[in-house]
Amino acid sequence: VAFSAQFGRFQHHVLTQWTSPDHPEIYLHSNIVVDGRPIGNPREGFGWHTDLTYLQQPTAYTALYGLEVTVQGGNTDFSSLYAAYDALDDEKKRRLDRYRVLRDYQKLYARRANATPLSEAQKARVPQTRHPLIRTHPINGRKGLFLGGNDVVTVLDEDGCDLGRELHDELIAFSIADEFGIAIAGRSAIFSSGITAACSTPPPNTIGSANAA
Ligand SMILES: [Fe+2]
Repeated sequence: VAFSAQFGRFQHHVLTQWTSPDHPEIYLHSNIVVDGRPIGNPREGFGWHTDLTYLQQPTAYTALYGLEVTVQGGNTDFSSLYAAYDALDDEKKRRLDRYRVLRDYQKLYARRANATPLSEAQKARVPQTRHPLIRTHPINGRKGLFLGGNDVVTVLDEDGCDLGRELHDELIAFSIADEFGIAIAGRSAIFSSGITAACSTPPPNTIGSANAA
């Protein structure tokens, strides 16, 4: 917590039932069951996504720290959304620059079988959002794709017309090409949520599907 505090103010995860009782800044992932209950969220992060893009003010960084990692699985792959943006042709860059992405975490969450329903306070933290598809880094001015995960409902053009989710999914498929991959981190990493997409490898006895993120 002291290390992460050097990067700015903490943003607590909306799923407070999976945050550490002692340190609410820490969001726990685990498939270890104690007294019939997993000690952390066992079903998060398995599809390609950028962290917390569904918040009105998306987080800038995520610190990942593995205390215990399974022999099989448990890795996280990263892909650079700067590099993927740079590889687009100029016409496409200009076109995508005008689009926004509609996200709805409540809809994503409602699809999770057997998950505890969101409380009214949790729902209030995650209204629908419309963020630009291309985001400019506020410090270095560099542009990158700003992609999400299963929270994405659709892409909207400059007039608010619904262009469909497929465009977003095509860009995800494009962005995860090997040449944009920057790391396969097993246990610990700190990364800018604005410029990377991440995908965790589920361990063999994981609850939920590979697209549960
Ligand atoms: Fe994540």
